[in-house]
Amino acid sequence: MAYNLLKGKKGIIFGALDENSIAWKTALACHAEGAELVLTNAPIALRMGTINKLAEITGAPVIPADVTSNDDVANLFTKSMEHFGGGVDFILHSIGMSINVRKGKHYTENDYDFTHKGLDISALSLHRVLAIAMKMDAINEWGSVVALSYIAAQRIFPDYNDMADNKAYLESIARNFGYQYGIKKHVRINTVSQSPTRTTAGSGVKGFDGFISYAEKMSPLGNADAEQCANYCVTLFSDLTKMVTMQNLFHDGGFSFTGVSQAVIEQMEK
Ligand SMILES: NC(=O)c1ccc[n+]([C@@H]2O[C@H](COP(=O)([O-])OP(=O)(O)OC[C@H]3O[C@@H](n4cnc5c(N)ncnc54)[C@H](O)[C@@H]3O)[C@@H](O)[C@H]2O)c1
Repeated sequence: MAYNLLKGKKGIIFGALDENSIAWKTALACHAEGAELVLTNAPIALRMGTINKLAEITGAPVIPADVTSNDDVANLFTKSMEHFGGGVDFILHSIGMSINVRKGKHYTENDYDFTHKGLDISALSLHRVLAIAMKMDAINEWGSVVALSYIAAQRIFPDYNDMADNKAYLESIARNFGYQYGIKKHVRINTVSQSPTRTTAGSGVKGFDGFISYAEKMSPLGNADAEQCANYCVTLFSDLTKMVTMQNLFHDGGFSFTGVSQAVIEQMEK
């Protein structure tokens, strides 16, 4: 059901690779709520993924941008502002990648070139996007920026590897830039800490099946899926959440505040 929550709003969605991507579902939800969109991803992801199908459904142009490149991000804002005839009202940062995870490098034996690259893509990119947007005055008054995070930023999930550090840094940037952009232009910036979700990035984590069923058993409401995450992002882009900023918001069915659940106790007693 649509409520026209984003009628008249214009947004940029980073990170839709295929139909499993959280960004894909968020683009669909924003479109259903009346938003106009620009879609973007790294050039290689545009070649490997299926973003053109999403572009057709949502009537959105696709503008390539590698988030580790200042020039690409600046070009993305220039083209988006031309397309919209002005600034944007919301941005979804749905980007994550760890080469250490991909190559199976244990946390204690991380390759620092991989660490640097992963940090640049997964966390610093939020700073880059916000800094360039601020310089170009690309986000409208009371705009909203959401980046996706995971609870490994606060608690240990060993196989999440250096992505845990990346998420901690990402959440810190959301707080610090949230202050700066808040005083400058009432732009709000939050992270949404999502349940484990079956996507290309998610399934790349070692032991993901065990991981996702443990979280399901530990969450009183069960795991939140990608569509539910998309709906939550819509509320954060809408005018109904105007005074929420600099927060890390758990969207995880209650996992983050559950010490132990009956289901897990029963499992341990077997
Ligand atoms: N899937 C999960 O279990 C889960 C849980 C919590 C948070 N998250 C976060 O959600 C976000 C989206 O991930 P997803 O699960 O939808 O997986 P996904 O693989 O569909 O999305 C990750 C995206 O990052 C993009 N990307 C990678 N390098 C890039 C670069 N250099 N420039 C631009 N884009 C680049 C990829 O092309 C891809 O579209 C990530 O931040 C992820 O960490 C995922």
